[in-house]
Amino acid sequence: MKQVFKGISFVCILLALSLSGCKEDVPFNEDYDETAYPFPDIYRFPDIDVPSDNPLTIAKVDLGRKLFYETLISKSQTMSCGTCHNLGSALTDNGLPFSTNDIGEITTRNATPLFNLAWTDKGFFWDGRVMTLEDAVEDAIVNEQHPEWETTLNGIKADEEYAFAFREAFKNAAVDETNVIKAISSFIRTIISSDSKYDKSLRGQATLTALEQEGFDLVFTTERGDCFHCHGVYPFMTDNDFHDNGLQDASTIGQYTDLGLGGANGVSTDIGKMKAPPLRNLSYTAPYMHDGRFATLDEVIDFYSEGLHVTPNIDPLMKQALQGGVQLTPQEKAALKAFLLTLDDPAFINNDDYKSPF
Ligand code: HEC
Ligand code: HEC
Repeated sequence: MKQVFKGISFVCILLALSLSGCKEDVPFNEDYDETAYPFPDIYRFPDIDVPSDNPLTIAKVDLGRKLFYETLISKSQTMSCGTCHNLGSALTDNGLPFSTNDIGEITTRNATPLFNLAWTDKGFFWDGRVMTLEDAVEDAIVNEQHPEWETTLNGIKADEEYAFAFREAFKNAAVDETNVIKAISSFIRTIISSDSKYDKSLRGQATLTALEQEGFDLVFTTERGDCFHCHGVYPFMTDNDFHDNGLQDASTIGQYTDLGLGGANGVSTDIGKMKAPPLRNLSYTAPYMHDGRFATLDEVIDFYSEGLHVTPNIDPLMKQALQGGVQLTPQEKAALKAFLLTLDDPAFINNDDYKSPF
């Protein structure tokens, strides 16, 4: 009995100590602003899911935007997310096939665009190695920017404006890794591309030309271009899923140079599968494919027309792979390209809300 009482009083003392400790560390944060971010309601864009521990607030999105462009979050203190994800290039890396990270390594994959990611539900990165945006942001920080966290966080804490912004964005007001990741993820959730000519045509605000309409028919007709199974899901223009589209010159599993999804999940039938990119904003995101092998859209179209490889895991949807592809005439190629260009969204790449606040 005595023992038990002793134990309880010991626990009580600990509890009392930690409670008072908590009070000192986290004073009532009167600057916390929980005003919800007014997520826009856009024609045919579904509602989004936001993790319950990272509600989307205006204050957090504003902070996340600053941190996205913050060079303190890198080892050299000169690189930010915006270095490789430039708005003018639809948040890809300035026309480069590969990027150079903060410790001078060349990436093995082409930087992906960062828009409409609030709806990504089957995995992030070309190989789907993480399932949540928060995990993707953490992966990006660690693998690309190699920050020394103590230096980074001290640098941020030293700035009055940042200290206030963290208090507004987070009830616990902590300037720490978790909150940096939550804020950047919140900003990325708000990056939307929805104002291309094609979007407008669906809203009755624009009309496709005859050539563009012919290209549309090619994309959405199974017997012809047949792109829509993987890239046709509106409004994303991707099914967000992983496929082997016959890009890699591999006739055996061992010959794939990038294992893609299979490399991440260890499933051999997933080797060579990559996330289908959105067909939006292609004018700004060259070069194309996971390794940036095609410099122009004409090269991409030639590839689907007559350049496919019959790979071990090729998607059954690439039905005409044995003939090299869907065999388009020059007129059809021009039409396909014209339609793809209707998915450019100049309002998006000029949107002030996504620009650097610095
Ligand atoms: C050195 C250049 C570089 C920097 C800096 C960089 N990225 Fe990236 N990012 C890439 C590359 C390359 C990929 C594609 C990597 C892959 O798929 O394996 C990528 C992919 C991503 C993706 C996956 C998107 C998708 O469609 O699945 C996200 C999210 C992302 N980056 C966010 C960020 C954030 C946030 C930062 C800043 C913390 C950042 N990146 C910094 C080069 C960079
Ligand atoms: C079976 C699914 C599938 C079909 C069908 C398909 N694609 Fe793709 N597409 C992909 C995948 C997967 C990638 C990325 C491959 C890689 O990089 O390894 C891709 C990449 C692309 C890219 C490069 C985008 C970028 O940002 O790098 C374009 C453009 C493209 N496809 C257009 C088309 C067109 C046009 C058609 C129809 C003629 C088509 N696709 C049919 C799955 C598909």
